[in-house]
Order: sequence, then C-alpha cells, then structure tokens
Amino acid sequence: MSRERTEILFEKHADASGLPGDDVHLLAEAESAARAAYAPYSRFRVGTAIRLGNGTIVQGSNQENAAYPDGLCAERVAAFHASHAWPDVPFDTVAVAALHGDQPGPVTPCGSCRQALLEIEYRTGQNIRLIMKDADGSIIVSPSIRNLLPFCFSPGHLSPGA
Ligand code: THU
Repeated sequence: MSRERTEILFEKHADASGLPGDDVHLLAEAESAARAAYAPYSRFRVGTAIRLGNGTIVQGSNQENAAYPDGLCAERVAAFHASHAWPDVPFDTVAVAALHGDQPGPVTPCGSCRQALLEIEYRTGQNIRLIMKDADGSIIVSPSIRNLLPFCFSPGHLSPGA
C-alpha cells in the first residue's frame, strides 16, 4: 500500500488588475450572461462566457425547471451551444460568475460540467483555461479542466489502447 497525492494547479489573483484585458472582458460577459438566467427555484443566477479559438464569445446561463433535475447549468448551456455551432473550433477560455455577491468562494463548475468540458478538451486536443470569480473580487484561473478532475473518466477508458 502507498499513500499518494495529486496536485491541482491554479493562479489566484487578488483582483482583476493582473488579468489580461481579454479575461476581464470575458468575466464581464459571464456576469452579463447571468442576468438571463432562469433560476426561479434556487434564485442562484450563474453566467458563463466561452472564448473560442476563432475569437467568438458564446454565453450561457442556468436554466431551471419545476422538475428540478431537468434544469441545466450555465456552463453546459454555453458549451453545448458552442459545440453545436462551431464543432471544430477549440475553446480557449471559459469564465464563470454568479450575480450574487455573497457566495462563499468562487463559483466553480459542478462535476457534471467539468466532465462535459473535459470531453471538449479531448475532442479538440486543446486545454481549456477556466476563470472563476469569487465574491470577494479575487479570481482563480485553472490552466485546464483536466487539472480539476483527478481520476477523471475519459474517452480513453472506452477504447483501451487506442
Ligand atoms: N449552477 C450553475 O449553473 N453553474 C455552477 O457552476 C453551479 C451551479 C446552477 C445550477 C442551479 O440552477 C443553480 O445554480 C443552483 O445549483
């Protein structure tokens, strides 16, 4: 038996001033997307903005349903639309933000959204940067989605040796 560790890498910025202008813009797009959320049940409005490799920005917001599990998170609303409309274009960066200023810690994609975004990393062969904004104004940047999913289930599991 051995005890092992895995690492998660991230940048932490105290505020947006150290971020490239493109990232600041993308976060603003995520915040503006959150205004279109349909979240009458949780009242937690989340927005996502994806910058594609061709410069296009695709927004999404969470869409809830009276049958609760049928709703969908902002990240997957945006990611699936982007994959539909630009199937061959990699995702450069995904920004996530919530409208509420009081949640503890950054708004991070749930496990299902990480898994959905991971598939896009594998499909396009390009890491996706993820920018998450905390209520205190600080910002976390992950260099990839894979970085946030230790022991992930990946397409390789379905085609061993491929
Ligand atoms: N939600 C998102 O849209 N993205 C996240 O990163 C976390 C959670 C949504 C799902 C649900 O509509 C509401 O927030 C509360 O969980």
